[in-house]
Amino acid sequence: MFKLNIFTLLIFSIFLMRTFCELTFDNLNEKLVMSLIRAKPKTNIVASEVLVRIPLCKLASVANGDARVELMTALGYKDNASLSGYYAGLKRAIKTMLITDLTLAHRIFVNYTTEIDPKFITYSIDNYGIKVDKIGFNFPKAAISHINNLISSITYRRIKNIVDESDINKQTQMIIITAAHFKGTWEFPFDLRQTKLTKFQRIDGKVIRIPMMSKNYQFQHVENSDCQAISMHFGSWRASFTIILPNSQQQLPQLLDKIYNEKAYVHNLVKSMKGRFLKVTFPRFKIKTFVDWTGFVKELGLNSIFNSTSSGLDGIFKNSTKSIALNKIKQKVFIQIDEVGVARFARLDFAGPEEPSQEPMPNFVALPQFTADRPFYFDISLDFETARYQMFTGVYYGPEETPTNVNEFHF
Ligand SMILES: *[C@@H]1O[C@H](CO)[C@@H](O)[C@H](O)[C@H]1NC(C)=O
Ligand SMILES: *[C@@H]1O[C@H](CO)[C@@H](O)[C@H](O)[C@H]1NC(C)=O
Ligand SMILES: *[C@@H]1O[C@H](CO)[C@@H](O)[C@H](O)[C@H]1NC(C)=O
Ligand SMILES: *[C@@H]1O[C@H](CO)[C@@H](O)[C@H](O)[C@H]1NC(C)=O
Repeated sequence: MFKLNIFTLLIFSIFLMRTFCELTFDNLNEKLVMSLIRAKPKTNIVASEVLVRIPLCKLASVANGDARVELMTALGYKDNASLSGYYAGLKRAIKTMLITDLTLAHRIFVNYTTEIDPKFITYSIDNYGIKVDKIGFNFPKAAISHINNLISSITYRRIKNIVDESDINKQTQMIIITAAHFKGTWEFPFDLRQTKLTKFQRIDGKVIRIPMMSKNYQFQHVENSDCQAISMHFGSWRASFTIILPNSQQQLPQLLDKIYNEKAYVHNLVKSMKGRFLKVTFPRFKIKTFVDWTGFVKELGLNSIFNSTSSGLDGIFKNSTKSIALNKIKQKVFIQIDEVGVARFARLDFAGPEEPSQEPMPNFVALPQFTADRPFYFDISLDFETARYQMFTGVYYGPEETPTNVNEFHF
């Protein structure tokens, strides 16, 4: 009896430890987007680790040999159940986001051959959260326009030209495309009358004036010797916005290094936050980023899946005699953060007098201030008790002086 109890306890605690480790800390989560941010200093960036992980889980589900070892290591998983479990854990939160905030177009495109195992294609959305499409890469021009038209129509023409001639040719066998457009909708909107031109110190020290929104409210907040951070909820289930602000504009690079190098730095910071009444002020902003992840994921040790002679992905075929490799992972993300919130939408059909303010504190009360008046790190995450999924991660350096390539995004 005693033995049985100890045994049960042991099994139970191993199980707990494993689920915790698997879902919380891993290389891809901590390094992927941060390596892009560090590679492009002084550039506004927003990118999504979740949208890279989803297709990689799908590929890992059929991978063997080195490819499987590399994928499982980068993803931080020990067993097959984690691969489908990842999307299962996120499904409801992503679906809620899709109602108000998010437009998503992501696909694995494989070369159109009869050898593809139908099992790789069916139920892929339900089990792994990503659709697999067959496409004739033998006709590169047609394939490019098909993919661009498809992504453009899913995103209501907000994201166009995601691939071009340099991405697809007759040798292409498989590419991963992820596109996302996120327009945050707060749980409680910001009062537009509180948005004012405010001083912002750029990374080079120059001071400019930009529109910043402001609110007196009880925010989740934490402070340490490197930075201050706040978190607040969007209207959609589990979604929140976090800003990490260095103590001065020159200290941002060190802060970004710390986030990259120190295990679970952001996670621990967020875990230690406490509710505090503050006057929070930060810029309205839009960021668009276009990234080819191929080199970055190779840097994280994922090489085999790109090897055309031995990719370890022949499980995609019915008869594992041929080989198929991944050629590229491309991503376009656009995010917009402004005052709009759920309550404001509700107010549209409200004809009576002004609703009372949602804010528990009147604006004239002098509260401690959190003002993001210098470059900062931010993320848009889905927060659960055991895991924090970073849907989007980025850095904001202030408005861009020269508009980026007009061909990259159209709104
Ligand atoms: C996990 O999946 C791989 C690839 O499909 C397969 O070879 C392996 O046997 C599976 N492992 C278990 C424990 O089911
Ligand atoms: C793609 O599929 C076509 C037709 O099924 C085939 O002829 C071609 O060799 C394939 N391309 C590659 C790079 O495998
Ligand atoms: C692809 O895999 C083969 C067999 O493992 C290996 O010999 C070759 O060097 C690899 N190619 C690249 C580009 O890594
Ligand atoms: C698989 O290959 C074997 C021999 O190479 C062949 O006899 C069989 O018909 C193939 N199966 C399918 C489903 O194509």
